[in-house]
Amino acid sequence: MPASNKSYRAETQLVHAGILRSQFQETSEALYLTQGYVYGSAEECEARFSGKIPGYVYSRYSNPTITMFEQRMAALEGAEAARATATGMAAVTTALMGVVRNGDHVVAAKALFGSCRWVVEEWLPRFGVTSTLVDGTNLAAWTNAVQKNTKAFFLESPTNPTLEVIDIGAVAEIAHAAGAKLVVDNVFATPLYQRPLELGADCVVYSATKHIDGQGRVLGGVILGSEKFILDHVHHVIRQTGPSLSPFNAWVLLKGLETLSVRVERQTATANAVAAALHGHKKISRLIYPGRSDHPQADVVKKQMKAGSTLCSFEVKGGKDGAFRFLNTLKLIGITNNLGDAKSLVTHPTTTTHQRLTPAQRAELGIDDGLIRFSAGLEHPDDLIEDLLAALDAV
Ligand SMILES: Cc1ncc(COP(=O)(O)O)c(C=O)c1O
Repeated sequence: MPASNKSYRAETQLVHAGILRSQFQETSEALYLTQGYVYGSAEECEARFSGKIPGYVYSRYSNPTITMFEQRMAALEGAEAARATATGMAAVTTALMGVVRNGDHVVAAKALFGSCRWVVEEWLPRFGVTSTLVDGTNLAAWTNAVQKNTKAFFLESPTNPTLEVIDIGAVAEIAHAAGAKLVVDNVFATPLYQRPLELGADCVVYSATKHIDGQGRVLGGVILGSEKFILDHVHHVIRQTGPSLSPFNAWVLLKGLETLSVRVERQTATANAVAAALHGHKKISRLIYPGRSDHPQADVVKKQMKAGSTLCSFEVKGGKDGAFRFLNTLKLIGITNNLGDAKSLVTHPTTTTHQRLTPAQRAELGIDDGLIRFSAGLEHPDDLIEDLLAALDAV
């Protein structure tokens, strides 16, 4: 099935899109674990290297297993082109650094995953790229932050870990009026619930380490956009600087994609059930779930997302002590920093993903010391709710 075939629904694309069958006509995608390729003649080698004839040259640039993963992701996202990377952070860094040059300026939402915020605040300035961080839910703040040299806007939605939802279409309009490109980190929504390119974004990035693998096995990332965006801003950066995905990990991610829709659907139902069970609990002072009508941006969720999320966040009373007592009492749910996994996981953002921020910066983002991020897995929801309620009893 060609990647460009848009007539199939997402569930079908996830299983079939982008497959390249070898002469053996294998059922499952082949794993081409090779760094390079051989040529029938020196002339053919020369022509392949110069691009006069198409074909694979070196796996830092491209590889058939990686192509299958890229084509499947492009079909799913409705993107013209995709490039895979070794991690989600490689995808974010490559996309941003591909767009900006020394002397440019970036406007980004404040509520970013810790490493993404580090890239914007600490890494880009080393190359002469300045930035302004804004409250992503405040559209006037995006407009007011624009400078003559603004070349990129960057946001994630829903945000990690407070699950704020940003109006992607409105921010895209502001970016384009300023002559800037909008890059969206779509990890929390997954391509099944939100399609930023259709909403006006120029580029979408994923940590494939999360729902796309979804079984805690490998790291990976992917960057998606128009053919022109990928050629102008991404293709050469990956080819020459080498943040490339390994073919083995691409194969694992292809297998992960096959089950993405059933996993995400089930995880969302579980996150919903957990949010309903914890809502109003006397040991919790705040509960945030994008699928609920009391979510602060419920209208934006309705406008741009197909469903809520596989995650919900809540604030346990008693600050860090309360949160740690809760975490240490859990029996089934693992304490970790990953998300989107078959196993349900909890994270304490203050001491892990967002520990680099100052207390004042965390307070500004609503990341209190009692905040817990819960990522729903595939267990029976009642077992998870029993585990969570028993741990809350200990607070
Ligand atoms: C929203 C978001 N973006 C990017 C990343 C980075 O992905 P990776 O760990 O695959 O580099 C993560 C998680 O780690 C994340 O949660």
